Amino acid sequence: MAGGAIVSTGPIKNYNGGMTAFVLITCVVAATGGLIFGYDLGISGGVTSMNEFLMRFFPSVYKKMNSATTKESQYCKFDSQTLTSFTSSLYLAGLIASFVASVVTRIFGRKVSMVTGGAVFLLGAIINGAAMNIAMLIIGRVLLGVGVGFGNQSVPVYLSEMAPAKLRGALNMGFQLAITIGILVANLVNYGTAQMKSNGWRWSLALAAVPAILMTVGSILLADTPNSLMERGHMEKAKAMLQKVRGVSDVDEEFQDLLDASQKSKMVEHPWRNIMQSRYRPQLVMAILIPFFQQLTGINAIMFYAPVLFKTLGFGDSASLMSAVITGLVNVVATLVSIFTVDKYGRRFLFLEGGIQMIICQIIVGVVLGLKFGNTGQGSLSKGYADLVLVLICFYVAAFAWSWGPLGWLVPSEIFPLEIRSAGQAINVSVNMFFTFIIAQIFLALLCHLKYGLFLFFAAWEIIMTVFIYFFMPETKNIPIEEMNRMWKQHWFWGKYIPDDAVADHGIQLSAGKGMA
Ligand code: BGC
Repeated sequence: MAGGAIVSTGPIKNYNGGMTAFVLITCVVAATGGLIFGYDLGISGGVTSMNEFLMRFFPSVYKKMNSATTKESQYCKFDSQTLTSFTSSLYLAGLIASFVASVVTRIFGRKVSMVTGGAVFLLGAIINGAAMNIAMLIIGRVLLGVGVGFGNQSVPVYLSEMAPAKLRGALNMGFQLAITIGILVANLVNYGTAQMKSNGWRWSLALAAVPAILMTVGSILLADTPNSLMERGHMEKAKAMLQKVRGVSDVDEEFQDLLDASQKSKMVEHPWRNIMQSRYRPQLVMAILIPFFQQLTGINAIMFYAPVLFKTLGFGDSASLMSAVITGLVNVVATLVSIFTVDKYGRRFLFLEGGIQMIICQIIVGVVLGLKFGNTGQGSLSKGYADLVLVLICFYVAAFAWSWGPLGWLVPSEIFPLEIRSAGQAINVSVNMFFTFIIAQIFLALLCHLKYGLFLFFAAWEIIMTVFIYFFMPETKNIPIEEMNRMWKQHWFWGKYIPDDAVADHGIQLSAGKGMA
């Protein structure tokens, strides 16, 4: 996911060459990498709300849903561990695969990882589209997850290495934009296939093959990055590639910097031990808490289960899927807002504004549902209240999409200095995947037990994370990486963890070991 991107925020040098056709194609591949991830996030909720799908694979959920005499409260209609494992198995597989992928990406190159990701994902889409039983569904989802794990690990790294320095930040957020477009496309596909007489769900699942083919073929055609060629000892090829990527023959300055960076990173013997040192405490805490908080906003409750949620609230089948399309659209547009404002207003402003907006929306939704449904969860909302809930959920999604959505990936990627970057990114990506899995797995049970209180539960977490940002997250806008230590040092809380020499020597502390003179 976007989080894999390694974005250098050091002073941006004006290397020779700029945007070339080559880099443009890179953007397209990046987009397909984001699309496959987004497509998954957006497709499962609609599919699990389709009657034919439920009748076939989850008949007990279907029965519970349609039983007129059911004692089940509205909130518990969809609560089924197998139904949630259909959604969540993907993220667990992705979590494990991203560790394997990080080794493959380093040893065999970014391209091999991307081709593997696209191909495994394609296989998953085919098995899902042809599914005859739950086992095929889950195996398909696991393969999709492996594909996503490989893609999320390699595509952003590929992107940031191919992009000219001044475009790296934009590309990082562009990847998040591609994720939101993937979610929206999936919502639209669900809306369309639900109108089909039969097998609509099959088409929804099988169409994941389209972005998978684009990604597989796209990455077969692409070359590997200069950095990766260098890492694997092909110096001549690395230089030729850099010339090709930048479209000029004089790339000496950038090549030398790449070489220095590559040598430095080879000297980092113990990135995991490094990141445990007290001087890296702020980065370590952020690498864990930012992805954790991002998932605790509850966003994926909406992304995965919006159609189910809207059905629970008494919307009809088609209105539920349409509502998911609306939230999907809001998600894309608000991400664009973020891209255009993040360097102007800064990260803190967006984090705080987005946080407050999410808190207000969730509290009102919780109170409305509490008053109208109460604890029994019987009945349905009147049209007016149902529309109010939809509008509030749109405001909530917009707030997430210009704050924690893209920033949850951008901020961690810009605060890790070289010597802890690989470890920091690995923690960030895996914490994110892990909590995506947890939310996917427990959301329907939480809805059943906490009822309207679920919205208040997420609101409480949003209050905690907004207070956390206010007190503990300094502004990182426009701060070059070597100045970051000064920023932490001056911070009222983190300052005590940063030794004075970390500021004096610009924080480049490599673990003692071979190669250090
Ligand atoms: C999050 C995903 C989420 C998506 C929604 C991403 O930043 O990591 O979990 O589904 O945003 O747009």
